[in-house]
Amino acid sequence: MDTSQAELIAFLTKRLGADGVIDDPADFPRYTIDWAGDQRGEPLLVARPRTAEEVATVVGYCHHHGIPMVAQGGHSGLVGGAQPDAERRELVISLERLNRIRHLDPINFSMSVDSGCLLQTVKDAAEQADCYFPLALGAQGSCQIGGNVSTNAGGLNVLRYGMMRQLVLGLEVVLPNGRLWNGMHALHKDNRGYELKQLFIGAEGTLGIVTGAVLKLAPRPQTRRTALIAVPDIAAALKLYSQARRSCCDLLSAFELIPRVCMELAFEATPALPDPLDEAHPVYVLMEVSASGPVDLDTMIEHLFEAGADQGHVRDGVLASSEAQAAQLWQIRESMLEGQQMRGEHLRTDISLPISALTAFFEGACQAMTERSPETQVIAYGHIGDGNLHFNLLPPATLEHGAKQALLHELEAILFDLVDAHEGSISAEHGIGRVKQRPFLAGLDDLERELLDGLKKLFDPDDLMAAGRILPRRR
Ligand code: LAC
Ligand code: ZN
Repeated sequence: MDTSQAELIAFLTKRLGADGVIDDPADFPRYTIDWAGDQRGEPLLVARPRTAEEVATVVGYCHHHGIPMVAQGGHSGLVGGAQPDAERRELVISLERLNRIRHLDPINFSMSVDSGCLLQTVKDAAEQADCYFPLALGAQGSCQIGGNVSTNAGGLNVLRYGMMRQLVLGLEVVLPNGRLWNGMHALHKDNRGYELKQLFIGAEGTLGIVTGAVLKLAPRPQTRRTALIAVPDIAAALKLYSQARRSCCDLLSAFELIPRVCMELAFEATPALPDPLDEAHPVYVLMEVSASGPVDLDTMIEHLFEAGADQGHVRDGVLASSEAQAAQLWQIRESMLEGQQMRGEHLRTDISLPISALTAFFEGACQAMTERSPETQVIAYGHIGDGNLHFNLLPPATLEHGAKQALLHELEAILFDLVDAHEGSISAEHGIGRVKQRPFLAGLDDLERELLDGLKKLFDPDDLMAAGRILPRRR
């Protein structure tokens, strides 16, 4: 260990206490890997501050001594943004001990929290006050609010409530120079000049470390109905979506595309899950409607179902008759991710397109994948109500790691060219991190690149904070 590292350990121990610093490599693994398991790194050390002021102290020290740093939340990112680099240069600043709910104001429909609070904890606290924090994702039991803010998390309820960008009223951020910005406003309308907080939302920790947030709440839904509907193809699913948006009185809260292959992945991961319909169908839609007051949601869904059947784009379906049955339908959505994970190495994407372009894109993309690699399996599902598809690719199991990577790389380029041709986005919800950096940079024009570089330099002139994520490392 060199002197500077010993000094850093001494400083962190003095300021954060003995349990505020982890310097034994045997304890590092928890901080080196993300959910997908395909990004690894080696931290210099791990700091575990308890308050925003402690984060500011740690960051100030790093700024002064030129130590690179990366903030870390609940390890559920999918683009390698929060993992330390492989060279043991970066201090990991874990927010796991910043986990207090600061204040809940049910009259203002807002709640201020530390950034290390688990999303599930926040949702539970909102519910106890007869409110609702609508962000919903598979990782909600482990992901943290700061990570949700920094990646502008999306998930299952975006079509009704928006992404994190629409759910944050105020923020508190430690800047790369160690100064603490207090923007913890709880205002639903505030038009004072530039909107600073939006710069940090989705910035993946490259412009500052989020330490607190004021979240916007909604009324707690008291009635909720979940249905799984079988349709012949994606075009039919989109017709049904259009109808549901109009006929469900703005109460549609989720609309997920689940092809049969995903249903089977779910059964592989959770064999006890029953097949909800008598026959297998090529494509399903999992939808949810909810209301904060007494509304006859059953009749609403039944009408939608009948109209869809009359027009030929609904084949069969089941409306959950109990909370338990609804949970079982949602379990399919969750288990299919585990099933996918069990198949090993694959390409994950989170592309988006104008909803009107989804069918043509989907058909073109499936055809292009088959032409280049007939054995590669397309696993395409997701939040089609947001135009957001997880068009994932499973390479042939017979290939070696290197050959799989080369193939996936090539297929990704073909796919992203098609996304571009349809004026879509290569990242609708997971962000850029390191994994999507190359295609992200390739898609920027000179002006955009200049503006982004300028922003990063303004906030972090020494390139010490989450360097190499979104934009390339400068030193
Ligand atoms: C999903 C995550 C992976 O929607 O974004 O399944
Ligand atoms: Zn998603």
